[in-house]
Amino acid sequence: MIMSDTTESFISREVIGSEIAPTAELDPGTTPPLIQTEDLSLFYGPDRALKNISLQINEKIVTAFIGPSGCGKSTLLRCFNRMNDLIDNVRIGGLVKIADQDIYSKDVDVIELRKRVGMVFQRSNPFPKSIYENIAYALRLHGSNKADIEDIVERSLRQAALWDEVKDRLQASALGLSGGQQQRLCIARAIAIKPEIILMDEPASALDPIATAKIEELILELKKDFSIVIVTHNMQQAARISDYTAFLYLGELIEYDETRKIFTNPAKKQTEDYVTGRFG
Ligand SMILES: Nc1ncnc2c1ncn2[C@@H]1O[C@H](COP(=O)(O)OP(=O)(O)O)[C@@H](O)[C@H]1O
Ligand SMILES: [Mg+2]
Repeated sequence: MIMSDTTESFISREVIGSEIAPTAELDPGTTPPLIQTEDLSLFYGPDRALKNISLQINEKIVTAFIGPSGCGKSTLLRCFNRMNDLIDNVRIGGLVKIADQDIYSKDVDVIELRKRVGMVFQRSNPFPKSIYENIAYALRLHGSNKADIEDIVERSLRQAALWDEVKDRLQASALGLSGGQQQRLCIARAIAIKPEIILMDEPASALDPIATAKIEELILELKKDFSIVIVTHNMQQAARISDYTAFLYLGELIEYDETRKIFTNPAKKQTEDYVTGRFG
């Protein structure tokens, strides 16, 4: 296809409308680097899911991974807290560093790593326990005392924009909450242990538009305190909430840049075709 002059305006009008990601108070280019990968490759048995990915993710911004289903977004995300370790026959090459530490080196305590790098999944997965206990459980495991736990539960629920909806029924089952509330509870649970990084794998894809909007608002709020990496197949969502966007295709990092640039003036034709909805 020959790129016409109208392409750029087409993209901005059709894909992101007026909702382009605000990079306002925090210039993503100036926050310090936090996650770095060098030549990262990953194989499931004989199948290569990631091909020589090198990228740097900075602190206290939202970074989105986009790309068609099966391109390796979740796999890449899981490399950052070694969740892929739990899968058989996985082989990883290259380097992943978080705050300059090689997280795959032998002396890394994976439990500690996962405290620093929390994760929220597509399907909210609260424990079949009370709302309170969903958060208190992990805190108790980590040795917090009762008074601290009460404070942290409240603080986390407030921070996850859920407190007002649940403060009168903390002892009720978490499974009685709506899907969107359950997902915010999972976010509260993740932030209770004060991670530096929160990984989110399509956290709103099972939710209705109103619940999705709440999660998006929450993410913009949370980036003041946390560094967030989010996988989404929803390009409007990436455009609305992320500062940087990485486009993956067939296990390769095709393009990685400021979200604004990816959606209005991508450097690669493949990116342009994807963000304008020509494939995927
Ligand atoms: N546990 C697994 N075992 C084997 N292959 C997997 C596993 N998880 C993902 N894959 C394969 O790795 C590739 C990338 O998958 P994934 O990271 O889930 O992509 P995405 O999140 O972009 O949809 C796909 O071809 C997928 O089938
Ligand atoms: Mg996925």
